[in-house]
Amino acid sequence: MNNNIDLVLFGAKGDLSERKLYPALYQLDRAGLLGNSVRIAGLARQDISSADFITTVEESLKKHIPESEWDDAAWRKFSRRLSYMKVDFSQKKDFMLLKEWLVEKRTAIYYLATPPSLYGAICNHLNDAGCVDDVARIVLEKPIGKDLDSSREVNATVGVHFDERNIYRIDHYLGKETVQNLLALRFANRMINSQWDNTCVDNVQITVAETVGIEGRWGYYDNVGQLRDMIQNHLLQLLCMVAMEPPNSLQADEIRAEKVKILRALKPIDSDNVLEQSVRGQYSAGWISGEPVVGYMEEEGSQESSNDTETFVALKAYIDNWRWAGVPFYLRTGKRMQDKVTQVVITYKEIPHAIFPDKGGDSKNRLIIRLQPNEGIELEMFSKKQSLKERLSLEKRTLNLDFFDSSGESRIADAYERLFLEVIKGDQWLFVSRDEIEASWRWCDQLLDSWSEKNVVTKTYSAGTWGPSKADMLMEKDQRSWYES
Ligand code: BG6
Repeated sequence: MNNNIDLVLFGAKGDLSERKLYPALYQLDRAGLLGNSVRIAGLARQDISSADFITTVEESLKKHIPESEWDDAAWRKFSRRLSYMKVDFSQKKDFMLLKEWLVEKRTAIYYLATPPSLYGAICNHLNDAGCVDDVARIVLEKPIGKDLDSSREVNATVGVHFDERNIYRIDHYLGKETVQNLLALRFANRMINSQWDNTCVDNVQITVAETVGIEGRWGYYDNVGQLRDMIQNHLLQLLCMVAMEPPNSLQADEIRAEKVKILRALKPIDSDNVLEQSVRGQYSAGWISGEPVVGYMEEEGSQESSNDTETFVALKAYIDNWRWAGVPFYLRTGKRMQDKVTQVVITYKEIPHAIFPDKGGDSKNRLIIRLQPNEGIELEMFSKKQSLKERLSLEKRTLNLDFFDSSGESRIADAYERLFLEVIKGDQWLFVSRDEIEASWRWCDQLLDSWSEKNVVTKTYSAGTWGPSKADMLMEKDQRSWYES
């Protein structure tokens, strides 16, 4: 691995850096996975010294890392890598400081943990200051635009100075252990792969439910809503990992090309079917874990002028290809829901002919891929109930592939640890290509247009529930229900 890396964090004093980026880098270093010569520079507008910066990083690490994972020696080693530069990202001249810090023949990685509106200026200034060469990489956080046109603009601006092979677009869901395990599950197990299509699968459900609200981000969130914040990226990426064809190899290009095919095969949700296939919701006041919480419109920073922003979306989507024709993919995501759950549930079709007594209830096999909490995979199957009293009756049993037990590791790495490692290695397999971003925006734009054309307003749900009752009806009219673990 190339260890001659200069990692430059734009937005070094921001929330993402403090909550996710420093902890991830510290953990990699503690595990011996960060090459000895890797240097890290934090860039932000604040006028502070490197020593003060290092103290704030230490404080935020202590806040975000479990006490048991704090190691003084590891911190001392990590802190020696850190330095700080006061840079106003809109000021070209400030970038000369960075140029002086960089060392020739090393690989620079620019991580933009800043509002996307700054991406263009940062790229231009990096280039003008002579900080961009053939090997320099740039890492972009979401959102990349807020529709197809604006995403194209961002991609074009960045693309002027960086070649696509050096652009790393983050979707942190791809860094999650279970998401990568989907590839292993599907393509390392013949028996799974041969049961993975419309002859066997009845439906697929993807749920990303959060108990948190908008976490003080009204200004951002009210312009975006749950479709843009979660479906356009995380849920569609999960859908791709479930639905894509086997790639020819694990090369980034091969995997990404298969994902694009799925995004392009998504059947539009347009004005003809938007009312039957989509639900928008917004939370009102309610209770989360026994504590009262306010509704969306009472959140800190809220504005009366808000334009009916959705904090919940449920969709029924179809993939128009040979493998998945006719299989509904139900997607559901919301803020302030009853529990934090991220899972993919594959429900298989009924057996063609039942020879056993009525099992009284659900008789379908299910494969449950849980991303959080308790990462793992479960297969619900039927087996004989042990009993002399009954001739041959069945009970539902669960085969469990619990990651935590089997890995031998004492903790599961955070998504950002994996993503940093891959950027440092120069492997784009867990990053989103320009084609993927554009294909998913194209599909979401159509849905957004149909919502406004048909005036699809949000349905209210109380915080601490599973969303508006209309989301249950979306399933019930298909004689199905959401899987509740
Ligand atoms: C982010 C969204 O991308 O993902 C947030 O902007 C959301 O609104 C977060 O809360 C969820 O991530 P995770 O890893 O906690 O499921």
